[in-house]
Amino acid sequence: MTVLVHSPATLSNLGCGFDVLGLALEAPYDAIRLHRTDEPGIRIQHLDSYNLPTDPAHNVAGVALQALLRQVPEQIGFDVEITKGIKPGSGVGSSAASAVGAVVAANALLGHRFSKMQLVDFAMEGEAVASGARHADNIAPAMFGGFTLVRALEPTLDIVALAAPPLWVAVVHPQIEVKTSDARKVLPTAVPLGLAVRQWANVAGLVAGFTTADYELIGRSLDDYIVEPARLPLIPGLAEARVRALAAGAIGGGISGSGPSIFMLNKTEATAQAVGDAMGSVFTELGIAFNVYVGPVGTEGARVIHEL
Ligand code: HSE
Repeated sequence: MTVLVHSPATLSNLGCGFDVLGLALEAPYDAIRLHRTDEPGIRIQHLDSYNLPTDPAHNVAGVALQALLRQVPEQIGFDVEITKGIKPGSGVGSSAASAVGAVVAANALLGHRFSKMQLVDFAMEGEAVASGARHADNIAPAMFGGFTLVRALEPTLDIVALAAPPLWVAVVHPQIEVKTSDARKVLPTAVPLGLAVRQWANVAGLVAGFTTADYELIGRSLDDYIVEPARLPLIPGLAEARVRALAAGAIGGGISGSGPSIFMLNKTEATAQAVGDAMGSVFTELGIAFNVYVGPVGTEGARVIHEL
């Protein structure tokens, strides 16, 4: 009647693919323990120090579980313990990880009656509470692992797993606050056709590069002509971090999700380490504290660690 799930951090957008592309990391991850009870309702406890709301109506995991419970005829409830390994607001899918972990755990306690696509739908309700917008570009890789494309949300959720060659990810997280809702307010509401053409050419180029393991094509296709220029002022050091990362051998990268983290894709672990250090040096010089994460792409999404 108790399940423990680990749900990974994710990178969304991947440069040119605003709101549609994403990838899963292996770590960090949130640990979500769910206990099924006969007492209806959701009771949430946070075993971390982030002071996130425990009222289910204002907690991403709580809202996702409420959406799932609306489809369950039995009178049941859940006691939820969340230990966040992913810092909220870091731009690596913290809210998506908690929402996905919670519904994956609930599904295990309900005999796996829902499909992963249905679980994505429930988790998106939670994500909407955190970011003010229904999007699945972090949720999809947290659920399925690997690289994902959210081809459509309406009229039917359409998520596509993308093939990709082995890649190592370097992420630097400068300790500055960028709220997703604020980072979305700075975006243009209309895009000149010429820019849109360049952007969707890059999305196609990136996916083709993944499929054919063409690292050069991946590198030239990651560029984002629409979203990153608007968000550049929100992240001091971004332009210099990119220059140093490329000089250290990165294939390419950009803002992770809505920031403030910055990601770079790399061919090898050694290059990813060097790239992480190179990006970190920018924030040392700026006097901004930072964390660096280096790891492979996570092939698994959220997974059940044990059931008792
Ligand atoms: N695609 C979203 C954005 C991710 O860039 O605003 C934020 O969670």
